Amino acid sequence: MAEVVITRSADEASALAADHVARAIAAQPRLVLGVATGSTPERFYRHLARRIAEDGLDTSGVRAFALDEYVGLPADHPESYAAVIERTVTTPLGLDPAHVHVPDGRAADPFAAAAAYDRAIDEAGGVDIQILGIGRNGHIGFNEPGSSLGSRTRVKTLAASTREANARFFADPADVPVHCITQGIGTIREARHLLLLAFGADKSTALAGAVEGPVSASLPGSAIQLHAHVTVLADEDAAQQLTLADAYREAWALKPAAQGF
Ligand code: GLP
Repeated sequence: MAEVVITRSADEASALAADHVARAIAAQPRLVLGVATGSTPERFYRHLARRIAEDGLDTSGVRAFALDEYVGLPADHPESYAAVIERTVTTPLGLDPAHVHVPDGRAADPFAAAAAYDRAIDEAGGVDIQILGIGRNGHIGFNEPGSSLGSRTRVKTLAASTREANARFFADPADVPVHCITQGIGTIREARHLLLLAFGADKSTALAGAVEGPVSASLPGSAIQLHAHVTVLADEDAAQQLTLADAYREAWALKPAAQGF
């Protein structure tokens, strides 16, 4: 079962995650970090940037792989995930842009770009720590309900509900792309450690399904249950539908702090 850490606030969870990743970078300067977009991990990136500065960590060897990208946005579009990752991850964490990878949503052949992305992850030695958010419909990356739990990086169509949820980032809802390239659930499951962040009441149904529901392609986040090393960091609002919340709290309270996740 996933380790579930319920915190008083999103900020506390983000700081815990940043502490964990900062220690991992200190121990392994060529760490391969899987990074997510969306609003959920933004605080985590800010905390991590602060820790890197305070601890004087050298991040020049760190490699990063984004989960997903829209297909067809212009190169200079501020909401392309390439632009979002540059703004929220590459620059604040001081990563070498040559070490930061985002699926190529503008490739003439997005299907070939998707396959090449999996090969690039393999060539980097695989992802050490994968940061994940979760969609309100239970998606991880852009693996919408119905995605194969063994899927590889590929071109997908976004669910109408996801396009609606992400319309807030675009001037016009019609501007939200219809297609994306996303790491597959099988790809994500190959990361050595999954760190899933979930904040706010509107994530509580998806989170409960992912952590405690049946493992099902209908709720892609439930694939985390098939992984041997998962940490879920949730605030009280996101955790409100977890039936085993007391057991998670007890387990976390009893765990020696030095042990980490
Ligand atoms: C986005 C991303 C996911 C993200 C999820 C939740 O569209 N593709 O990687 O985890 O949907 O987004 P948010 O954190 O903004 O709620």
